Amino acid sequence: MKNILITGGAGFIGSHVVRLFVTKYPDYNIVNLDKLTYAGNLANLKDVENRPNYTFVKADIADLDLMRSIIRDHRIDGIIHLAAESHVDRSIRDPFTFARTNVMGTLSLLQAAKEYWESLPEGFNGKLFYHISTDEVYGALQLNRPDGVEAPFSTRASSERELAFGTDFFTEATAYNPHSPYSASKASSDHFVRAYHDTYGLPTIVTNCSNNYGPYQFPEKLIPLFINNIRQRKPLPVYGRGENVRDWLFVEDHARAIDLIFHRGKVADTYNIGGFNEWKNIDLIKVIIKTVDRLLGNPDGYSLDLITYVTDRPGHDMRYAIDSRKLQSELGWEPSLQFEEGIEKTVRWYLANEQWVNNVTSGDYRRYYEEMYSNR
Ligand code: NAD
Ligand code: TYD
Repeated sequence: MKNILITGGAGFIGSHVVRLFVTKYPDYNIVNLDKLTYAGNLANLKDVENRPNYTFVKADIADLDLMRSIIRDHRIDGIIHLAAESHVDRSIRDPFTFARTNVMGTLSLLQAAKEYWESLPEGFNGKLFYHISTDEVYGALQLNRPDGVEAPFSTRASSERELAFGTDFFTEATAYNPHSPYSASKASSDHFVRAYHDTYGLPTIVTNCSNNYGPYQFPEKLIPLFINNIRQRKPLPVYGRGENVRDWLFVEDHARAIDLIFHRGKVADTYNIGGFNEWKNIDLIKVIIKTVDRLLGNPDGYSLDLITYVTDRPGHDMRYAIDSRKLQSELGWEPSLQFEEGIEKTVRWYLANEQWVNNVTSGDYRRYYEEMYSNR
C-alpha cells in the first residue's frame, strides 16, 4: 500500500496517527481528509504540514460523490477512518449530527472505497478499510467486582491481577449494548463496516479503544478541560458523585497500536486496545489537581476547592474496562508509558501551550486556517 487516506486527521487522535505515518513512512503518500469542525485544527499538524508525502483535503465524509472522487483521484489503497463526532455530551444535545457523520459518513466512505477498489484489475487485493472505534459500544460494566471488593483497580499491574479474579472486562466477544447517542452511532458504524466485509468482501478491520488522553485533545473532554480550569482557577464540574470508572490510554500508544494493526492485523478481525489502567473519576481528578498544582508552584492541595459536584450526565455509563490481551499476545503491542508519566507529559504540554487552548476554544484559529486553505 502506498496511498493512505486518514480521515479525521486534524482531530485529536487523528493528528497523532498522521504525524506517526508521515514521519515513519516517507514512501507513503498520506492524505489527511477532514471537515475541520470545531474539533479539527490544522495547527495540530504544523510540524509535518510541509512534508512532501503529506496532503490535506478539506471534505465532509458524508458527501458520497466527493468521497468517490477523492479516493479515485488519490488512488487510495488503504483507509484509516477516524473522522467522527466524538463527544458524548454533545451527542446528548444533538444526536442527528452524530448519526449524519458517524453513520452516514462511514457508510459513504465504505461505499466509495468498495466502488473504487472493485473497479481495479486487482480488486480488493492488498486493500484495507480500517475503522477506528470505541469501547463505549459495549455498554457499561458494574462498578464492583463480583467478589465485593471495591473498584477502581487503578494501576496496570493491579488490573492485570483483577483478570485472575474474573472481574468483568470488555473483550472482542462482548455483545454490543450502547447507551448514549454517541456510542449508538459508533456501534452502527461498526456494524456497517462488518456488513461491508460479510456482504461484499471488503477487507476491513475494526478496533475498539478505551478513553485516550494526551496533547491536542479538545478541551471539552475531562482531562484537558480540568487542566485548563485549574490553571484559570475555574470550577471543576464533576458529574454525579465522581464514581464512574474510565480506562485511560496515552494517545501515542493508541497511534502505535493503529500502525501495528494497519500493517499486521488480520482482515475481518477486531482488536480491543487498552492499557489496563482504570481510574475512578474523582481519583483521577485528584491526580490532575496534584500535578497541575505542583507544576504551577502552588502548595499541595491548593486547587482541591475547585471540585464542584454537578448534576450527573443522563445515562452516564458506570464503568469501562478493556481486556486487550488479544492485541498483546497476537501482535505483541503493549503501552509504552506508565499513567503517571503520561499525565505528567500531558499536563506539561497543556501548561506550555496555553495559546493553542485559547485559539481552539475561540474559533478564530479555525477560521484563520480555513481562509488560508481556501486561498491556496
Ligand atoms: P476529535 O473530535 O478530536 O476529532 C474528530 C475529527 O473528525 C476532527 O478533526 C473533525 O474535524 C473531523 N470530522 C468530524 N466530522 C467530520 C466529517 N463529517 N467529515 C470529515 N471530518 C469530520 O475525535 P478523536 O477523539 O480524535 O477521535 C477520533 C476517532 O477515535 C473517533 O472515531 C472516535 O470515535 C474514536 N475514539 C476516540 C476515543 C477518545 O478517547 N477520544 C477513544 C476510542 C475511540
Ligand atoms: P469524557 O472525557 O467526556 O469521556 P467519555 O464520556 O467518552 O468517557 O468524560 C470522562 C469521564 O469524566 C466521564 O465519566 C464523564 C466525566 N466528566 C465529568 O465528570 N465532568 C466533565 O466536565 C466531563 C467533560 C466529563
